[in-house]
Amino acid sequence: MITLIVGLQWGDEGKGKIVDYLSSRSDYVVRYQGGGNAGHTVVKGNKKFILHLIPSGILHSGVKCVIGNGVVFDPPQFIKEERELKTRGIKTNNIYISDCAHLVMPYHKVMDSLSERALGKHKIGTTGLGIGPCYSDKYARMGLRVQDLFNKPLIYQRLKENLYIKNKIFHSLGAKKLSLPRIYSEYLSYARLIKPFVTDTRKLLLEAIRNKKEILIEGAQGTLLDIDFGTYPFVTSSNSSLAGVVSGTGIPLFNNGIKVIGVLKAYTTRVGEGPFPTENKGTLGEVLRTLGGEFGATTGRPRRCGWLDLVSARFAVELNGINSIAITKLDVLSHFAWLNVAVSYKYKGKLLKYFPTDVSLLSECEPVYETLQGWDEDISKITKYSALPDNAKKYLNFIEKNLKVPVKMVSVGAEEKQIIRV
Ligand code: GDP
Ligand code: IMO
Ligand code: MG
Repeated sequence: MITLIVGLQWGDEGKGKIVDYLSSRSDYVVRYQGGGNAGHTVVKGNKKFILHLIPSGILHSGVKCVIGNGVVFDPPQFIKEERELKTRGIKTNNIYISDCAHLVMPYHKVMDSLSERALGKHKIGTTGLGIGPCYSDKYARMGLRVQDLFNKPLIYQRLKENLYIKNKIFHSLGAKKLSLPRIYSEYLSYARLIKPFVTDTRKLLLEAIRNKKEILIEGAQGTLLDIDFGTYPFVTSSNSSLAGVVSGTGIPLFNNGIKVIGVLKAYTTRVGEGPFPTENKGTLGEVLRTLGGEFGATTGRPRRCGWLDLVSARFAVELNGINSIAITKLDVLSHFAWLNVAVSYKYKGKLLKYFPTDVSLLSECEPVYETLQGWDEDISKITKYSALPDNAKKYLNFIEKNLKVPVKMVSVGAEEKQIIRV
């Protein structure tokens, strides 16, 4: 069985927690896109782990963790993350890195910051980790892949070609040129360290499917940040929706089927720039940020916050073919007298029921809210659906009815056991 966990908003929905929770029943946990820009938090007792490149199944020693070919792989970041996990007593010999994954190079990070600077007030608000430039080089056929690290003449030649162009750009923009010998020797040293993890992960996964293994695919970012279907250009540079799974893993999905679980935070957040119809820049936003601890797991930036938006969520459900929903952070909404939920938008006085593809139009949309009653009880220790306050159940029912998909998991706290199966 193949199951995909995908974010239905702009990232940080709590995918890491859900993946960790489902990992105990999985043989493989697979990342198919994105890179170190992801920050997936898993809390175990008083220990907190933030995973960036390593799949969130890593805390389960029996699970094979795969970094698929669609991921942009940053060697120093991986080495640091892997070492930190090992220091904390986590087994890491079950990590498999695709030999076809593209390498994030130092010049990608420089390029990222130069483009952001050039965009000025129109910047994307990227994580600055070179994600966009790395994917650009992949599609421009200028990229270096993990397997190239083990072919010294090839990596030297590719680096030379890249630096020939990139250094000219850097120089003309007043940035420092990068040194070929330095990057070459740096990456050769990474090659030695990551070699034991590198393999043909497509073959590994095909074998797993043939042996009827449980495969959990972990999305990074969220559907609204998808390069094709998200709020372009305020997106990340990969297909963070279901769309990326086949190209990012090589799994022949159409022959094998997939169950898709959408992760939806009980309210909405976004990091970086771009339209966000339900954003609240006042007290409510501040309260949600404080109660929900809404600060980026990768960059530490405060997340923009607002009410739940079912217009964009309906779009994300459709696009991914969602079978069931996991609602996270419902506990954060306790103690509000009432809760707003956006059910449509208003654009120039006209009612809009669908999520528009045009971001300039989206940025002028006003949310149309329905107001639901809140609840005052602390729900963080509840383990059974029946024990939830009536108004919390009504909130969940409202979501189900609007999205026409069942809510099967409700998370009421960051810890693994703080989850209700519906
Ligand atoms: P991800 O990127 O989708 O994995 O999400 P992040 O880890 O970036 O952000 C989610 C944050 O919410 C993390 O700090 C989690 O520990 C926390 N979290 C996850 N689920 C819950 C929940 O149900 N309640 C609360 N209060 N926190 C949660
Ligand atoms: P997880 O997996 C939230 C956002 C950045 C920026 C835009 C482009 O933890 O949900 P990039 O560095 O990818 O080129 O930045 O995408 N972004 C995320 N926002 N959660 C993430 O990952 C994100 N990864 C990228 O803030 O707006
Ligand atoms: Mg995150």
